[in-house]
Amino acid sequence: SVELLESAKKQAAFAAVDEFVTADTKFVGVGSGSTVVYAVERLNEKAKASQKPLHCVPTSFQARQLITAADSLILSDLESCPLLDVCIDGSDECDADLNCIKGGGGCLTQEKIVAYNSKQFVVIADYRKDSTVLGHSWRLGVPIEVIPFAYTAVSNDIKRLGGTPVLRMAKAKAGPLVTDNGMFIIDADWGDIQDPAALHQSLIVIPGVVETGLFCDMAKVAFFGQADGTVVRKT
Ligand code: A5P
Repeated sequence: SVELLESAKKQAAFAAVDEFVTADTKFVGVGSGSTVVYAVERLNEKAKASQKPLHCVPTSFQARQLITAADSLILSDLESCPLLDVCIDGSDECDADLNCIKGGGGCLTQEKIVAYNSKQFVVIADYRKDSTVLGHSWRLGVPIEVIPFAYTAVSNDIKRLGGTPVLRMAKAKAGPLVTDNGMFIIDADWGDIQDPAALHQSLIVIPGVVETGLFCDMAKVAFFGQADGTVVRKT
């Protein structure tokens, strides 16, 4: 049910914040998506209770709004906070080695930049995202952010690499979805992805590809909220 799913997201988010945001934490990367909403709620409670500033760097327009709306969090950026203590973000799918597919919400590039510039990258998700091999995501293949000028050329290269590309369309507008960076997103399906790092490497060298939603060897821990209210912690 929707209630169990929301509760699973909330439990995962609260567990992650409670473990990784300690008295010494000053700089936090804030991911995007529906699970991160609960992480921001908990971050705000912590900042309020401790009376210590938490400087938060957003990974999207949505994350920026969440931070701004939280009365005890300080909105910051990578210029002021070049190295974050921790980045907490959701995931569309996460495999046994904690490689992730991200970008279901269209925010992968800023997410990857902020995660890369954090000492720790912590994934929070509900039980549906816990996977053994990537490629079973319930909603899409690999999101790939591309420069609009190049989208057909990149799509042709994706086909040559054995993938099935689909240009992501906007929901309430005729035409393609435009990201926070003014780019398009191609969702490309490869079925099971045995070697996500190799696939990322073959995609990122294509001219016009800005970033891929394959987050390989970045997460050190993932919290999966379960339908029964417990949280499974994987490393
Ligand atoms: C945003 O583009 C994505 O990378 C999200 O992190 C991902 O879609 C997780 O979102 P949910 O928490 O809504 O599942």
